[in-house]
Amino acid sequence: SQPIIIDTDPGQDDAIAILLALASPELELLGITTVAGNVPLALTSRNARIVLELADRRDVPVFAGAERPLQRPLVTAEFVHGKTGLDGADLPEPTLALTDGHAVDFIVDTLMQREPGTVTLCPLGPLSNIALALQREPRIAARIKQIVLMGGGCFEGGNITPAAEFNFYVDPQAADLVFRSGVPITMAPLDVTHQALTTRARVAAIRALRTPVAEAVALWMEFFERFDEQKYGQEGGPLHDPCVVAWLLRPELFTGRRCHVAIETQSELTMGMSVIDWWGVTGKPANALVLGGIDADGFYALIAERLARLRKD
Ligand code: BDR
Ligand code: CA
Repeated sequence: SQPIIIDTDPGQDDAIAILLALASPELELLGITTVAGNVPLALTSRNARIVLELADRRDVPVFAGAERPLQRPLVTAEFVHGKTGLDGADLPEPTLALTDGHAVDFIVDTLMQREPGTVTLCPLGPLSNIALALQREPRIAARIKQIVLMGGGCFEGGNITPAAEFNFYVDPQAADLVFRSGVPITMAPLDVTHQALTTRARVAAIRALRTPVAEAVALWMEFFERFDEQKYGQEGGPLHDPCVVAWLLRPELFTGRRCHVAIETQSELTMGMSVIDWWGVTGKPANALVLGGIDADGFYALIAERLARLRKD
Protein backbone atom coordinates (compact mmCIF):
# COMPACT_ATOMS: atom_id res chain seq x y z
CA SER A 1 0.00 0.00 0.00
CA GLN A 2 1.03 3.59 -0.69
CA PRO A 3 2.63 5.46 2.23
CA ILE A 4 1.19 8.94 2.76
CA ILE A 5 1.47 11.81 5.21
CA ILE A 6 -1.62 13.99 5.63
CA ASP A 7 -0.81 17.61 6.49
CA THR A 8 -4.00 19.23 7.68
CA ASP A 9 -5.99 21.92 9.52
CA PRO A 10 -9.18 20.04 10.50
CA GLY A 11 -11.83 21.28 9.52
CA GLN A 12 -14.83 19.01 8.91
CA ASP A 13 -13.79 18.28 5.32
CA ASP A 14 -10.22 17.56 6.44
CA ALA A 15 -11.67 15.17 9.02
CA ILE A 16 -13.64 13.32 6.35
CA ALA A 17 -10.51 13.11 4.18
CA ILE A 18 -8.58 11.56 7.09
CA LEU A 19 -11.37 9.03 7.68
CA LEU A 20 -11.40 8.13 3.98
CA ALA A 21 -7.65 7.44 4.12
CA LEU A 22 -7.95 5.41 7.34
CA ALA A 23 -10.66 3.27 5.73
CA SER A 24 -8.59 2.54 2.61
CA PRO A 25 -6.12 -0.36 2.61
CA GLU A 26 -4.46 1.02 -0.54
CA LEU A 27 -3.04 3.81 1.65
CA GLU A 28 -0.74 3.59 4.64
CA LEU A 29 -1.13 6.71 6.78
CA LEU A 30 2.34 7.19 8.28
CA GLY A 31 1.31 10.19 10.32
CA ILE A 32 -0.79 13.31 10.48
CA THR A 33 0.91 16.71 10.66
CA THR A 34 -1.15 19.69 11.74
CA VAL A 35 -0.98 23.31 10.70
CA ALA A 36 -2.77 26.51 11.64
CA GLY A 37 -5.50 27.34 9.13
CA ASN A 38 -9.23 26.91 9.56
CA VAL A 39 -8.62 27.45 13.27
CA PRO A 40 -5.42 28.00 15.31
CA LEU A 41 -2.88 25.19 15.68
CA ALA A 42 -3.97 24.07 19.17
CA LEU A 43 -7.44 23.34 17.80
CA THR A 44 -6.36 21.70 14.54
CA SER A 45 -4.04 19.45 16.61
CA ARG A 46 -6.93 18.63 18.93
CA ASN A 47 -9.29 17.96 16.05
CA ALA A 48 -6.91 15.55 14.28
CA ARG A 49 -6.79 13.44 17.45
CA ILE A 50 -10.58 13.54 17.83
CA VAL A 51 -10.85 12.09 14.33
CA LEU A 52 -8.36 9.29 15.06
CA GLU A 53 -10.19 8.40 18.25
CA LEU A 54 -13.51 8.41 16.43
CA ALA A 55 -12.06 5.85 14.01
CA ASP A 56 -10.38 3.96 16.86
CA ARG A 57 -6.95 4.48 15.27
CA ARG A 58 -4.71 5.65 18.10
CA ASP A 59 -1.77 4.01 16.36
CA VAL A 60 -1.38 6.92 13.90
CA PRO A 61 0.97 9.62 15.26
CA VAL A 62 -0.04 13.29 15.20
CA PHE A 63 2.67 15.96 15.06
CA ALA A 64 1.92 19.63 15.58
CA GLY A 65 3.52 21.99 13.07
CA ALA A 66 3.49 25.64 12.09
CA GLU A 67 1.56 28.02 14.27
CA ARG A 68 1.55 30.70 11.60
CA PRO A 69 2.22 31.26 7.91
CA LEU A 70 5.78 31.95 6.72
CA GLN A 71 5.35 35.72 6.46
CA ARG A 72 1.77 36.83 6.84
CA PRO A 73 -0.43 36.94 9.94
CA LEU A 74 -2.72 33.93 10.34
CA VAL A 75 -6.23 34.20 8.89
CA THR A 76 -8.76 31.65 10.19
CA ALA A 77 -12.21 30.53 9.01
CA GLU A 78 -14.45 30.04 12.04
CA PHE A 79 -17.26 31.49 9.94
CA VAL A 80 -17.14 28.28 7.88
CA HIS A 81 -16.10 25.63 10.38
CA GLY A 82 -17.41 26.95 13.72
CA LYS A 83 -15.50 27.96 16.83
CA THR A 84 -13.68 24.63 17.29
CA GLY A 85 -13.12 24.00 13.58
CA LEU A 86 -15.03 20.76 13.95
CA ASP A 87 -18.46 22.00 15.01
CA GLY A 88 -21.53 19.98 14.08
CA ALA A 89 -20.92 16.64 15.81
CA ASP A 90 -20.61 16.36 19.57
CA LEU A 91 -17.48 14.28 20.14
CA PRO A 92 -15.39 13.75 23.30
CA GLU A 93 -12.19 15.68 23.95
CA PRO A 94 -9.25 13.54 22.83
CA THR A 95 -7.17 11.58 25.34
CA LEU A 96 -4.59 10.58 22.74
CA ALA A 97 -1.43 12.70 23.15
CA LEU A 98 0.41 14.51 20.41
CA THR A 99 3.63 12.74 19.47
CA ASP A 100 6.80 14.57 20.58
CA GLY A 101 8.64 16.44 17.89
CA HIS A 102 7.76 19.02 15.28
CA ALA A 103 5.69 18.20 12.21
CA VAL A 104 8.40 19.60 9.94
CA ASP A 105 11.02 17.26 11.45
CA PHE A 106 8.68 14.31 11.04
CA ILE A 107 8.16 15.15 7.37
CA VAL A 108 11.89 15.61 6.73
CA ASP A 109 12.99 12.54 8.72
CA THR A 110 10.38 10.29 7.09
CA LEU A 111 11.42 11.38 3.61
CA MET A 112 15.14 11.04 4.34
CA GLN A 113 14.75 7.60 5.90
CA ARG A 114 12.37 6.00 3.42
CA GLU A 115 13.20 4.90 -0.13
CA PRO A 116 13.22 7.95 -2.43
CA GLY A 117 10.08 8.28 -4.55
CA THR A 118 7.82 6.32 -2.23
CA VAL A 119 6.13 8.81 0.11
CA THR A 120 3.18 10.95 -1.02
CA LEU A 121 2.34 14.18 0.81
CA CYS A 122 -1.32 15.16 1.07
CA PRO A 123 -1.65 18.80 2.19
CA LEU A 124 -5.23 19.78 3.03
CA GLY A 125 -4.55 23.19 4.55
CA PRO A 126 -2.14 26.11 4.17
CA LEU A 127 1.22 24.85 2.87
CA SER A 128 3.35 26.25 5.74
CA ASN A 129 4.67 22.89 7.01
CA ILE A 130 5.51 21.61 3.53
CA ALA A 131 7.37 24.81 2.64
CA LEU A 132 9.28 24.79 5.93
CA ALA A 133 10.30 21.17 5.32
CA LEU A 134 11.54 22.03 1.81
CA GLN A 135 13.50 24.96 3.23
CA ARG A 136 15.00 22.96 6.10
CA GLU A 137 16.08 20.04 3.91
CA PRO A 138 16.02 20.85 0.18
CA ARG A 139 17.07 17.26 -0.63
CA ILE A 140 13.54 16.07 0.20
CA ALA A 141 12.26 17.63 -3.04
CA ALA A 142 13.85 14.83 -5.05
CA ARG A 143 12.62 12.18 -2.60
CA ILE A 144 8.90 13.08 -2.38
CA LYS A 145 6.92 10.81 -4.68
CA GLN A 146 4.27 13.47 -5.26
CA ILE A 147 2.23 16.15 -3.55
CA VAL A 148 -1.53 15.83 -3.93
CA LEU A 149 -3.18 18.91 -2.47
CA MET A 150 -6.43 20.82 -2.17
CA GLY A 151 -6.13 24.47 -3.03
CA GLY A 152 -6.51 27.21 -5.59
CA GLY A 153 -9.01 27.82 -8.31
CA CYS A 154 -8.88 28.22 -12.06
CA PHE A 155 -12.15 29.48 -13.59
CA GLU A 156 -14.04 29.30 -10.31
CA GLY A 157 -12.66 32.42 -8.61
CA GLY A 158 -11.82 32.53 -4.92
CA ASN A 159 -13.67 31.67 -1.73
CA ILE A 160 -11.88 33.93 0.75
CA THR A 161 -11.23 36.84 -1.63
CA PRO A 162 -12.60 37.24 -5.16
CA ALA A 163 -9.25 35.97 -6.46
CA ALA A 164 -7.95 33.48 -3.90
CA GLU A 165 -8.87 30.15 -2.37
CA PHE A 166 -8.43 29.91 1.43
CA ASN A 167 -5.44 27.50 1.70
CA PHE A 168 -3.29 29.45 -0.76
CA TYR A 169 -4.45 32.82 0.57
CA VAL A 170 -3.47 32.01 4.15
CA ASP A 171 0.13 31.19 3.21
CA PRO A 172 0.87 32.38 -0.33
CA GLN A 173 4.64 32.38 0.21
CA ALA A 174 4.47 28.70 1.18
CA ALA A 175 2.28 27.85 -1.82
CA ASP A 176 4.67 29.71 -4.13
CA LEU A 177 7.63 27.75 -2.75
CA VAL A 178 5.83 24.43 -3.19
CA PHE A 179 4.85 25.16 -6.80
CA ARG A 180 8.45 26.11 -7.60
CA SER A 181 9.91 23.04 -5.87
CA GLY A 182 9.93 20.72 -8.88
CA VAL A 183 7.99 18.06 -6.93
CA PRO A 184 5.23 16.45 -9.03
CA ILE A 185 1.97 18.08 -7.91
CA THR A 186 -1.67 17.17 -8.37
CA MET A 187 -4.03 19.92 -7.33
CA ALA A 188 -7.76 19.73 -6.55
CA PRO A 189 -8.96 23.34 -6.92
CA LEU A 190 -12.35 24.86 -6.15
CA ASP A 191 -13.37 24.09 -9.75
CA VAL A 192 -13.51 20.42 -8.71
CA THR A 193 -14.67 20.71 -5.12
CA HIS A 194 -17.57 22.98 -6.04
CA GLN A 195 -18.90 20.08 -8.14
CA ALA A 196 -18.76 17.70 -5.16
CA LEU A 197 -21.77 18.96 -3.24
CA THR A 198 -23.20 17.56 -0.02
CA THR A 199 -26.75 17.24 -1.32
CA ARG A 200 -29.43 15.98 1.07
CA ALA A 201 -29.59 12.63 -0.71
CA ARG A 202 -25.84 12.10 -0.40
CA VAL A 203 -25.82 12.99 3.30
CA ALA A 204 -28.80 10.67 3.85
CA ALA A 205 -26.94 7.80 2.15
CA ILE A 206 -24.04 8.23 4.55
CA ARG A 207 -26.27 8.49 7.60
CA ALA A 208 -28.00 5.28 6.49
CA LEU A 209 -24.76 3.38 7.19
CA ARG A 210 -25.77 3.69 10.84
CA THR A 211 -22.30 3.70 12.35
CA PRO A 212 -20.88 6.25 14.81
CA VAL A 213 -18.40 7.41 12.17
CA ALA A 214 -21.05 7.82 9.49
CA GLU A 215 -23.30 9.77 11.88
CA ALA A 216 -20.47 12.19 12.75
CA VAL A 217 -19.68 12.63 9.05
CA ALA A 218 -23.34 13.33 8.24
CA LEU A 219 -23.53 15.92 11.03
CA TRP A 220 -20.34 17.59 9.82
CA MET A 221 -21.65 17.68 6.27
CA GLU A 222 -24.83 19.29 7.52
CA PHE A 223 -22.87 21.88 9.46
CA PHE A 224 -20.05 23.22 7.37
CA GLU A 225 -20.18 25.11 4.10
CA ARG A 226 -23.97 25.11 4.31
CA PHE A 227 -23.75 28.86 4.05
CA ASP A 228 -22.68 28.23 0.48
CA GLU A 229 -26.22 27.09 -0.24
CA GLN A 230 -27.41 30.63 0.14
CA LYS A 231 -24.32 31.97 -1.55
CA TYR A 232 -24.55 29.94 -4.73
CA GLY A 233 -28.23 28.99 -4.64
CA GLN A 234 -27.48 25.29 -4.82
CA GLU A 235 -28.25 22.30 -2.62
CA GLY A 236 -25.39 21.33 -0.31
CA GLY A 237 -21.91 22.68 0.16
CA PRO A 238 -18.60 21.69 -1.43
CA LEU A 239 -16.66 18.82 0.14
CA HIS A 240 -13.12 19.99 -0.57
CA ASP A 241 -10.38 17.95 1.07
CA PRO A 242 -11.65 14.38 0.51
CA CYS A 243 -11.07 14.99 -3.22
CA VAL A 244 -7.33 14.61 -2.54
CA VAL A 245 -7.67 11.15 -1.03
CA ALA A 246 -10.30 10.12 -3.58
CA TRP A 247 -7.89 10.99 -6.42
CA LEU A 248 -5.25 8.70 -4.90
CA LEU A 249 -7.78 5.89 -4.66
CA ARG A 250 -9.73 6.37 -7.87
CA PRO A 251 -8.06 8.84 -10.28
CA GLU A 252 -10.51 7.78 -12.99
CA LEU A 253 -13.23 9.70 -11.12
CA PHE A 254 -11.45 12.92 -12.17
CA THR A 255 -10.45 14.77 -15.30
CA GLY A 256 -7.65 17.31 -15.42
CA ARG A 257 -4.91 18.95 -17.39
CA ARG A 258 -1.18 19.40 -16.87
CA CYS A 259 -0.53 23.16 -16.58
CA HIS A 260 1.91 25.73 -15.33
CA VAL A 261 0.70 27.16 -12.02
CA ALA A 262 2.09 30.30 -10.35
CA ILE A 263 1.01 31.81 -7.04
CA GLU A 264 0.55 35.55 -6.53
CA THR A 265 2.57 36.82 -3.57
CA GLN A 266 2.83 40.57 -4.32
CA SER A 267 -0.53 42.15 -5.01
CA GLU A 268 -2.84 42.68 -2.03
CA LEU A 269 -5.79 42.57 -4.43
CA THR A 270 -5.04 39.09 -5.76
CA MET A 271 -2.82 37.73 -2.94
CA GLY A 272 -2.65 33.92 -2.98
CA MET A 273 -4.36 33.60 -6.35
CA SER A 274 -3.38 30.49 -8.33
CA VAL A 275 -2.59 31.71 -11.83
CA ILE A 276 -3.23 28.56 -13.86
CA ASP A 277 -2.12 28.54 -17.47
CA TRP A 278 -5.00 26.31 -18.57
CA TRP A 279 -4.69 27.29 -22.24
CA GLY A 280 -0.90 27.10 -22.35
CA VAL A 281 -0.47 30.74 -23.30
CA THR A 282 2.83 31.23 -21.46
CA GLY A 283 4.62 28.25 -22.96
CA LYS A 284 6.03 27.55 -19.50
CA PRO A 285 6.42 23.86 -18.67
CA ALA A 286 3.66 22.28 -16.60
CA ASN A 287 4.40 21.95 -12.88
CA ALA A 288 1.06 20.44 -11.83
CA LEU A 289 -1.80 18.24 -12.88
CA VAL A 290 -4.78 20.54 -12.30
CA LEU A 291 -8.01 18.63 -11.77
CA GLY A 292 -11.06 20.14 -13.44
CA GLY A 293 -13.88 17.62 -13.39
CA ILE A 294 -15.20 14.99 -10.98
CA ASP A 295 -17.78 12.21 -11.14
CA ALA A 296 -19.49 13.46 -8.00
CA ASP A 297 -21.86 10.49 -7.63
CA GLY A 298 -18.92 8.10 -7.93
CA PHE A 299 -17.01 10.18 -5.38
CA TYR A 300 -19.83 10.03 -2.81
CA ALA A 301 -20.35 6.32 -3.47
CA LEU A 302 -16.65 5.76 -2.74
CA ILE A 303 -16.91 7.74 0.51
CA ALA A 304 -19.95 5.77 1.66
CA GLU A 305 -18.41 2.43 0.71
CA ARG A 306 -15.22 3.22 2.61
CA LEU A 307 -16.79 4.81 5.70
CA ALA A 308 -18.91 1.69 6.13
CA ARG A 309 -15.70 -0.20 6.92
CA LEU A 310 -14.80 1.96 9.93
CA ARG A 311 -15.85 0.98 13.46
CA LYS A 312 -19.08 -0.91 13.08
CA ASP A 313 -19.94 -0.98 16.81
C1 BDR B 1 -10.17 24.74 1.96
O1 BDR B 1 -10.21 25.67 3.05
C2 BDR B 1 -10.71 25.04 4.21
O2 BDR B 1 -11.74 25.81 4.72
C3 BDR B 1 -11.15 23.66 3.80
O3 BDR B 1 -10.81 22.74 4.83
C4 BDR B 1 -10.38 23.38 2.54
O4 BDR B 1 -9.13 22.78 2.82
C5 BDR B 1 -11.19 25.17 0.94
O5 BDR B 1 -10.88 26.43 0.44
CA1 CA C 1 -8.51 21.99 5.01
